[in-house]
Amino acid sequence: MPAEISLVPVDRENVRPVCDLVLAPGQETFVAPAATTVAEAAYEPDAWLRAIALDGVPVGVVLLVRDAPDEPYFLVRLMVDAAYQRRGIGAQAVALTLAHLRGLSGEDRLRTSCIPGEGSPLPFYRGLGFTETGEVDDDGERVLERGLEPDPRG
Ligand SMILES: CC(C)(COP(=O)(O)OP(=O)(O)OC[C@H]1O[C@@H](n2cnc3c(N)ncnc32)[C@H](O)[C@@H]1OP(=O)(O)O)[C@@H](O)C(=O)NCCC(=O)NCCS
Repeated sequence: MPAEISLVPVDRENVRPVCDLVLAPGQETFVAPAATTVAEAAYEPDAWLRAIALDGVPVGVVLLVRDAPDEPYFLVRLMVDAAYQRRGIGAQAVALTLAHLRGLSGEDRLRTSCIPGEGSPLPFYRGLGFTETGEVDDDGERVLERGLEPDPRG
């Protein structure tokens, strides 16, 4: 049974533990440190930054951005602390992010990107219904997207 999580705003109470979240060895290739995510979000005009909270304790971070109001949101950052990975938390965080987008008008999909290779989150995203668009972004990452429908596996 996966742990129940919630997505909560990053605020003055939790910003330090969010910034202190730790990646597993080798994962630095695939995602920037949490503190970088928090800093970048401050300079994005349309950022949606949330801590992944488990019983009130930050265990991960999610950042959505978009370049323009008529563009789909892009999941630029998703990270679960190394000590909490492989418990279903990342999958639940994506499900809650999709639910958030369903509550906004005009949203019909979520895009993300990642680097393929050993330890890549590509299988994680494919398992959640994301498919590759065939695009490669400016950083050489493969672009993926999915509609906002809930995962039929629940
Ligand atoms: C990718 C990440 C967010 C996944 O979070 P998580 O909480 O460990 O994932 P879950 O436990 O919810 O896994 C859901 C499914 O994906 C699978 N999965 C998770 N990470 C995987 C990986 N790297 N490779 C293959 N499968 C993976 C799980 O086995 C599980 O499969 P199942 O549903 O068949 O049991 C987490 O590993 C992480 O933070 N990685 C480092 C940062 C990163 O790469 N972020 C994404 C790029 S922005």
